Amino acid sequence: MCGITGIVTRNSDNIGELLVRCSSKLTYRGYDSVGVAAVRDGIVDLRKDVGTIEDVDRLLGLSKMKGDRGIAQLRWATYGAPNKINAQPHFGCEEVFFGAHNGNIHNYVEYRRQLIETGHTIRSENDGELCVHAVDKYYEQTGDMLEAVRLSTHDLKGAFAFAVGRSDKEEIYAVKMGSTLVAGIAENATIVSSDLPSILPLTNRILYLADGEMLSLTHDEVKVFRIEDGKQLERKPEISKIDARAAEKGGFPHFMLKEINEQPKVVQDLMGVLEGQENEKWFSLFEDASRHYLVACGSSYNASIVGTYYFNRLAGLPIIHALGGQFEPMYGNTMDSDSLSILVSQSGETKDILNVLNMVYENDYGKTLGIVNVIGSTLMFKANSYVPMTCGYEISVPATKTYYSQAVIFAYLSAKLGERNGHLDPSEAASLINRLRTDLPRLTQTTIDRTGILAKNLAKTLTNVKDLYCLGYGFTDGVAKEGALKIKEICYNHCEGMYSSEFKHGPLSIVTDKYPVIFVTTTEDSWMVINHINEVKARSGRTIIVGEMEDTLLPYVANKDDYLAVPKSDILLNPILDVIPLQLLSYFLSVDIGINPDLPRNLSKTLTVD
Ligand code: M6R
Repeated sequence: MCGITGIVTRNSDNIGELLVRCSSKLTYRGYDSVGVAAVRDGIVDLRKDVGTIEDVDRLLGLSKMKGDRGIAQLRWATYGAPNKINAQPHFGCEEVFFGAHNGNIHNYVEYRRQLIETGHTIRSENDGELCVHAVDKYYEQTGDMLEAVRLSTHDLKGAFAFAVGRSDKEEIYAVKMGSTLVAGIAENATIVSSDLPSILPLTNRILYLADGEMLSLTHDEVKVFRIEDGKQLERKPEISKIDARAAEKGGFPHFMLKEINEQPKVVQDLMGVLEGQENEKWFSLFEDASRHYLVACGSSYNASIVGTYYFNRLAGLPIIHALGGQFEPMYGNTMDSDSLSILVSQSGETKDILNVLNMVYENDYGKTLGIVNVIGSTLMFKANSYVPMTCGYEISVPATKTYYSQAVIFAYLSAKLGERNGHLDPSEAASLINRLRTDLPRLTQTTIDRTGILAKNLAKTLTNVKDLYCLGYGFTDGVAKEGALKIKEICYNHCEGMYSSEFKHGPLSIVTDKYPVIFVTTTEDSWMVINHINEVKARSGRTIIVGEMEDTLLPYVANKDDYLAVPKSDILLNPILDVIPLQLLSYFLSVDIGINPDLPRNLSKTLTVD
């Protein structure tokens, strides 16, 4: 997944500066390579190379480029290695057409061959180049830029968006076919981008687009067209209330640390929305369904594991949880029109999740409920209803506050459903919701303050460790998996997250003297976890504990920093709080190792590809 930004401006002095400033807000979408194409006096200046936007700007002077229109692209490599030739934007056959895409062109191999056979000069192994050539091809036939852009979508198969221009045309054109794209209208400039953060530095007047739509931008106008028949559509800009400063670090050294520290505020805002919003629709979706599936990827999946425990315990509801990519082959044939698919995604754009969404609708497999953070995302629009995570921007590639928000949402929904179906006493439901609203913000802050120092010290003792386990039991199953994912993702360590009672069924053989195993526990399950701790201790392993301070657990840690103790709460808040020390541990470890936790290698925040 990549980020594209196209700008047309009246002032031709600073197109490079504008493109660099705006597109740098999309760094979370890709940082393998960067390029800018700008048109000045009918000549296209295209500069690109491998590295982050800061690196490439320093190297090639991107922000000094002049012109009245241009396109920038930040790449996360899928088709073609992350090298200079595959970096975007690309030219068409001559240095006349230029453009860049986001997403995947699925018929890449056949279409590339066809283009070459018909005389096109293809320089890279990157599928984005084909978008420019497709427009080039149809411009040859029609001599009309808008029509060429429209017809190009007939040839290109996949989920993508692209922006394209021609050296002698004053417009930039863009297409949305399954990947995100938004536009903005500023004073004397217009902008199109893969995501809002890069538009907000210029304007808050936003045009939202649907799939199957295309745009033409001049410095003072954005026109929207339907791709199917080329008809121009009426589209009024909406005023975005999102503060552009939300995409700044706000004094923290990394977005990840900022986002961890935002969690007390997240729960306050979230509870306000959950309780204040008209949410009858969410509950009817659950109650009208005879089968419930919970589908997510990565951190959202780990939170969904925790959710499954909440639904069982508080609402007596059997929920089948699965990874996005695993879902259809594993459960597709068990679905019918009475099913409810609960699709959880921070971005609301993860392809594995949208595949499930589309599969449900194509087969008439019932209804969908999205749990989603990004307002305006495909999941938000297409699901029958959605629960907002209310986290604001999560910029850092490792998910933190959105995982936390998802866990709170599951606790809340389960308590309400349990109360409604009689599984949970109304006073217990009310008490939990009250604790989420009044106690959790304070307990979250205390957890950050208290375990931050311990995690920082503990991280220093783990910098040479390349291999470890993170185990959970019951409610902390998903928490341990999430902790392990964080350590893998931003510390480049092998850290396996698994169910603690499974450890003895094979992995225990890895334990030798001081081999580190992290145990995450609730107070209710610590008696059982002690058995699993003993199995490791008996083999001289090093046990690290995450959970409330308990006298029975204390003898199992060699020193105080090996016990990341969260404040006293209860079994239902433990799985929400226990993740925080693991987020902090992975953060400090990553920084100590010398990695930028916000931009771990090979990754992208939003995965719009299969
Ligand atoms: O946007 P989504 O919640 O659908 O993203 C799912 C995963 O790609 C994401 O959680 C990923 O695992 C995180 N980078 C983990 O920190």
